[in-house]
Amino acid sequence: MKKIFAITILSLTFLLACQMKYQSFSPGQVWLDDQNTHINAHGGGFLIHNDTYYWFGEHKIAGEEGNKAQVGVGVYSSKDLYNWKNEGIALEVHDDPNSLLVKGCIIERPKVIYNEKTKKFVMWFHHELKDRGYEAAMTGLAISDNITGPYNYIKSVNPHAGIWPTNYPDSLKSLSADVDSYVRPSPEWKDAVRLGLYLRRDFENGQMARDMTLFVDDDGKAYHVHSSENNQTLHVAELTDDYMDFSGNYTRVLHGEQNEAPAIFKKDGKYYMFSSGLTGWKPNPGKSAVADHPMGPWTALGNMCIGTEDEMKTTFWSQSTAVIPVIGKKDAFIFVGDRWTPDNPIDGSYIFLPVEFENQKPVLRWRDNWNLTFFDKN
Ligand code: GAL
Repeated sequence: MKKIFAITILSLTFLLACQMKYQSFSPGQVWLDDQNTHINAHGGGFLIHNDTYYWFGEHKIAGEEGNKAQVGVGVYSSKDLYNWKNEGIALEVHDDPNSLLVKGCIIERPKVIYNEKTKKFVMWFHHELKDRGYEAAMTGLAISDNITGPYNYIKSVNPHAGIWPTNYPDSLKSLSADVDSYVRPSPEWKDAVRLGLYLRRDFENGQMARDMTLFVDDDGKAYHVHSSENNQTLHVAELTDDYMDFSGNYTRVLHGEQNEAPAIFKKDGKYYMFSSGLTGWKPNPGKSAVADHPMGPWTALGNMCIGTEDEMKTTFWSQSTAVIPVIGKKDAFIFVGDRWTPDNPIDGSYIFLPVEFENQKPVLRWRDNWNLTFFDKN
């Protein structure tokens, strides 16, 4: 009897081990899901729900058109962060040419948060309209009762039409908004940008919202952080209590400092942000910042990468997209970056690296292979 019991336990353990193909992270390598296909969730956003991690991201296809939304937003789930189950397409693009979410539009950096009051899962994403390049600079909203979807597309907006940021001085509101009167780039243009040239240009019709992230604070307030003002300045915007709209309360942060790819996390009451500069799909030096409140003021802390010159110049050949807090481990955070491959976007890979703190600054170091026991040494 004892023998049969032991054999059963052994077989079960073996079966489980076979299912769990990964026991560590290998940043930048091909990463197979439960169906043995490379994970397809770029510009990812992560949500922890019922002790499970969910990874939402841009579903890319092969070839030159692969960066446009031909399918939608994919979602994966995991209990251990190493092994991911493909949960299908959370938000599908439409065939209807009258829908703004028609196939061939651009959907980037989808992020999902859960609203405790409404019990809805709320997805916001960067949305560009079909055949209009990156000029629309909108943010889209979709919601669902189920975490893995299907998500219903609600709307896309240029936020804050007719509303000034709370930290924008009255004295600047009546300055010129004539972008074309400046030579670009030039020191005069840079100064004008810092003082809100594009903010004033877009005041009436709504602000630009490109690369974005969402952050929910411990008090349940949610913030939508996006590259605005022609990618020159970030806006941190409070969402309404149901997370489905902008409350109208927003600030300009790190003005004129050209931040994209924001990712925010909180440790010991302080808010930290990773971001990148503006070089499209090509990597550039990472940036970090700290604040006492999501709406700022934010203080730049410099490049968070520690490594060779090449690694520091390229954020380990990646661009930030999210920071994942590890369930059940104090002060354990994982930086997530994308390695874009624009010639064949479906091949893009992912960088997961542990966030370390040195002199009260978050830093990253390259690791070929690592696992969550890394955090136990703290
Ligand atoms: C990057 C941005 C990506 C994508 C890309 C397009 O700077 O972070 O999300 O928009 O540009 O070139």
